[in-house]
This record gives sequence, structure tokens and C-alpha cells, in this order.
Amino acid sequence: MQHHQARAGSTGRPEQRVSESVALTELGWVVMDDAHGLASCLAMVAVRQLTPAYPLGSHLDGRGRLQLGGCDALELAAEFGTPAYIVSEDDLRARARAFANAFAAHTDRFRVHFASKAFACTAVARLFREEGIGIDVASGGELAMALKAGFSGPEIELHGNAKTEAELTQAMRAEVGVVVVDNLDEARLLQRLLVEQDRCQRVQLRIAPGVSPDTHPSISTGGPNTKFGLNLEDAARALELLAGERRIDVEGLHFHIGSQILELAPFRAALERVTAALGTDFAVWNLGGGLGVAYGPDEEPPSIEDYAAAKVQMVEELCGPGKTIVDEPGRALTANSTVTLYTVQSVKENVATWVGVDGGMSDNLRPMLYGARYEVEVADRFGGQSACIVTGKHCESGDVLVRDALLDDPRPGDVLVTPATGAYGFSMANTYNGQPRPPVVFVSEGDARLVVRRETHEDLFTRDV
Ligand SMILES: Cc1ncc(COP(=O)(O)O)c(C=O)c1O
Repeated sequence: MQHHQARAGSTGRPEQRVSESVALTELGWVVMDDAHGLASCLAMVAVRQLTPAYPLGSHLDGRGRLQLGGCDALELAAEFGTPAYIVSEDDLRARARAFANAFAAHTDRFRVHFASKAFACTAVARLFREEGIGIDVASGGELAMALKAGFSGPEIELHGNAKTEAELTQAMRAEVGVVVVDNLDEARLLQRLLVEQDRCQRVQLRIAPGVSPDTHPSISTGGPNTKFGLNLEDAARALELLAGERRIDVEGLHFHIGSQILELAPFRAALERVTAALGTDFAVWNLGGGLGVAYGPDEEPPSIEDYAAAKVQMVEELCGPGKTIVDEPGRALTANSTVTLYTVQSVKENVATWVGVDGGMSDNLRPMLYGARYEVEVADRFGGQSACIVTGKHCESGDVLVRDALLDDPRPGDVLVTPATGAYGFSMANTYNGQPRPPVVFVSEGDARLVVRRETHEDLFTRDV
């Protein structure tokens, strides 16, 4: 592990909470030591407000340079190279605690599971394990990662709409707590394996409640025509069948209606439909994840506290008292913890101004998959006004990271920052065009440590035979 000291000069900022904007506007006198430590200068500096897209504790220092977890963004770029995912460890911990505390404020019957697909990185999973929350996995690979991170089988839930026999066998060997059964073919396969191995398994049945929240179709998962789970009629039949299987213990129902959901009403609508069709006679209600996050100033997601309170209240009201609630946040735990740093390689005028950086669709596929929008800034010159298109380096015209960027006179060598890349960035990273995947660097209290090294060209060939 690589360590690095880059403690930033403190401007004495007030402490910030998970639900608050990351940096308050500060206007004041800032003391800056010169390079030789001999003299100080006093400067009147107006520090811009960062949006809530940035990790907790981020701010611009007196020189207008972005500070992350007490480390200077430009120094991080110089030390670890770009592109790089910079993750605020404290931000991840704060959000894990916020979820646990928010549910605990209303019930002692709850389980919070990190949806590991959002940031399938061993160090991230290990951190959440330290914070005492569980984990859900959606493949054999994520299961292996969860075990490597130190989770025990019972702390793990297995998802997937097309689980293979190998994955179910692996899950049983690991003695996972819950298998979320997606369909009847899987139930039959699971039953056969349980007989062969002479064991029992707790399961939840995944339901497609027929509710589509207001989010991109690619991340809407609970509508009537979805690849996930069983519709309400088939679910009723499946529950009858499963009731006769003594090795399968259906502890409850599961539905996850989608991701980046910015209002709470669809969760309730889904639960109303499910309880109306299937009753309330289940001990466990797993309402999935889905809480949206701020990718910029325009999104205003419900707070973690309001989200948890609403979920507990709706389960109590619609399902009755004494039920256990399971929640599976992914995006809301990880997105805002992370920024990606890039270096500008080229700036050219082809009708528009095109700013080419050293990453792109290999480290952040979301803009290309479903038009996700990101903020972008020059890491030491926030608040520019030059309209430009920030594009990746890949051989696809669609490899555009930010279409409507406003940057301060970008030049080759500038470090750019896109905040809120912690969810589904690292997990969906790929090696298109032979691009090695970026490192993951944890920052906290002025210390930076590498938790995933940059991929090398040799790594690209490790599977050649
Ligand atoms: C079953 C399930 N649970 C939880 C999640 C996490 O969702 P989010 O990242 O929106 O919280 C997902 C995401 O796809 C999912 O499929």
C-alpha cells in the first residue's frame, strides 16, 4: 500500500453533515505559507461553493485548488497519475452510519446491505463491513469479493435474474444468508441442489410490482415488463409452489423498482400493489435500494433520514407491526464519495470546443449508457465560463463525458475533476482500446493510500494462453 501526505492548509471550515452541501461559501482571510516556509501572505479570497455532488469535507483552498479528504487534487494527480478514482473514506463511513442510524431511529428490526454492484471494490466492501452493514452480491465474482473483504456467508444476500448452477453452488458452499429467488427455473434448480447437498436455504422472492419510477428506462427495474423478478400473478403461483418445499424457507418478499429515484412515492405505490396482491404474511420486507443522489445542483434527493423513515412507516402501515425491513443502498452509499481526476490532452475547435482527456467510457460508462450528466471543473480553476464538450479518448463518437461543460480556459496538462463517480463507475470500467483501468485512492485527513493499483499493459494479457 502506498501512503502519501498532502495535508491541505485548513481554512477552519465548520463541520458538514451527510445531508448538507459540501462546502459553505467562505469569504475571509487565509494564511498561506510560501515555498520556503519563511513568510506568510494574507489574501482576501472568495471560495466558491461546491455542489453536494462532491464528497463530504471537500473544499477549495485559498488558492482555489480542490481539496479532497484533506489532500490536494493536483498533488494526488501528480502522485497517482490520471485518470484516477479518488475516494473519501470518511464520506463512505458517514453515509453507512447515516443509513444505519436512520433505520435504527425508527425500528430495531432492519438490515442494511451494501449493494456491492455499485462499487465492487474489495476495499470499499471491507470498509462497509467495518461499519457493520451487510452486503448483497449479484454474481459469483461479487460473492468472491465479499468473502475476500471479510464478510461471512450469513451476512451476504445473493441476487441475479440468471444465476448459474455454479453460482448457486458457490453461494451454498459459502452458506449465504439469503438467496433472492428471481424465477421458477431458479427455484427448481435451487431445490435440486439443496436436495443433493442435503441442506436448507432462506430465500426472498423477487417481485416485479408493476411500478415504474421517474428514472431512466435502463435503471427502472420494477415495471410490468422487466427482466427482474416475477409479476404479481406468477409470484402468487410461485409462493404456493415454494410453500410445499421444505428445504426452502421463504422469509419474505423483495422488490427493487429502480435507481436514482428522487421521490419517495413510488416506493409506497409498489408496496401497496405487492401487499394488495400477495398479502402481508411475510416476516421480511426487502424494498431494495434506489435512493437517488445529487450529481449536480439540480438534483435534490430525499435525505437518507427521510428515506428510511418513509420506508419504515410504509411497511408498518401496509404490512403491520413487527416486520423486518431490509434495505439495499448502492448509489446513495457510494456515488458522492468519489471524484475522477483526468488530465487534458488536447483542446480543439470543431464547431464546438472539444476537450480531450486521458480517460472516458472505459472509466465512466454511465453518460454513454443512459445519458448520465456530470459536473466538470478544472481542479485549480473552478467557475469557468468557456463552453466546451469534454470527451474521452476512445474510438467512439459517443465517448463524451460532459456535453455542456463550462471550463476556465482549459489547456493540455490541466487536471479536470468530475464529482459523484463513486457509483457504477469503477464497477463498469473496462479496457476498451486497451486502456488500463484507473487506480482507486482512498483519502482521509490528509493521507492518501492506494487501494487498487492502476492496471498495466501486462495485466491486459494475463488471460492469453
Ligand atoms: C436488487 C438490487 N438492489 C439494490 C440495488 C442498488 O440500487 P441503488 O444503487 O440505486 O441504490 C440494485 C441496483 O441495481 C439492485 O438491482
